[in-house]
Amino acid sequence: MGKLEKIADKFRQLHNSEPVLVRAPGRINLIGEHTDYNLGSVLPGAIDKCIYMAIGTRSDNQINVYAADYSDHIVTVVDPLEKAWKLWPNYVLGVINEVKKLGVQVPGLNIVLGGDIPLAAGLSSSAAITVATTVSLNYVLDLGFSKLEMAQIAQKAEHNFVGVQCGLMDQYASLFGKKGHVIKLDCNTNQHEYIPFETTEVKVVLFDTGVKHHLVSSAYNERREQCQRGVELVKAHHPEIIGLPDITEEMLYKYVKPESELLFRRCLYVVQEIERLKGACEDLVKNDFESLGGKMFETHAGLKDMYEVSCEECDFLVDTVKASMNVLGARMMGAGFGGCTINLIYSDAVDKVTESVKQAYKEKFGKDLKVYLTSIEDGAEVLK
Ligand code: GLA
Repeated sequence: MGKLEKIADKFRQLHNSEPVLVRAPGRINLIGEHTDYNLGSVLPGAIDKCIYMAIGTRSDNQINVYAADYSDHIVTVVDPLEKAWKLWPNYVLGVINEVKKLGVQVPGLNIVLGGDIPLAAGLSSSAAITVATTVSLNYVLDLGFSKLEMAQIAQKAEHNFVGVQCGLMDQYASLFGKKGHVIKLDCNTNQHEYIPFETTEVKVVLFDTGVKHHLVSSAYNERREQCQRGVELVKAHHPEIIGLPDITEEMLYKYVKPESELLFRRCLYVVQEIERLKGACEDLVKNDFESLGGKMFETHAGLKDMYEVSCEECDFLVDTVKASMNVLGARMMGAGFGGCTINLIYSDAVDKVTESVKQAYKEKFGKDLKVYLTSIEDGAEVLK
């Protein structure tokens, strides 16, 4: 039985009724890391790993959520809605909270969820839960939200109930994903264009360090704040500036470096990454994967040395593949401090590269490396 059927079955068993079923995918991001909350662009795609949600309304005020992957269960109420002391329920409750804030009368709900997105691996399993919840409520309560509105509701849930001041990339990718395409999302205008990414020449392979850093949310919020402080320093001289996309390296040298070496490094990484992404889009159009891969290595170096969000395991994985002629590019992906590296590998060499990296990882850290081959798929949808 597939995951979706298991979730649906569990719902029937617990609630003796037919659920509405929703699917929301995780994402990869080719390039453009930590640029979204800095109003730059990103280049994600939705993947073939999803969160599935089964949902139905109740006639009372109760919220009943069962997380199949944890075999865990919470029961609470719509009114007054409070945060849970555990983390996972807050991705669901946070969305209910945002929807209520928009004036919607939310009824009691039965929810069962689960999926096959590896957890805390930088593949946005959390955004997939908030998106699945938003899409579910939109459908069941007939709210008529646009996809952008749903992405923003899911993002606010994470800001307000989970405490991570995330950008919009993950939620957007989960909703707007398109098979065979990456999404060039401009996070200043919240508009996107699709760029075809359908090639048999190279494959996107993820190496999962298995490292789950519990400090990620505080370090993430700190990076966001540091970038903002850097922007303020430049703004004092150029009030017309909105964010880092309007700032040049020269401005950073002139106005930020003398004030703070740390803020300078953070901002310089982002300014360079914004430029790299523009070049990467041209590479993609030309199918120049060598050039794209080179930029991915540069991104990793920036994330490691200037933005300081990498970790020993990610660095090791990137260094290990760098010498291989079969690997075009590699970098840590997502917020950082663990999770996956994303690798661009010639298709016919994937098995060979994977085997040798697995072996090297085991020798170095004594741990088995998990490897995911992903395909780029459509975004979230109501299944029935
Ligand atoms: C996390 C956040 C995103 C983005 C990435 C880093 O995945 O949720 O908004 O900032 O980190 O690029």
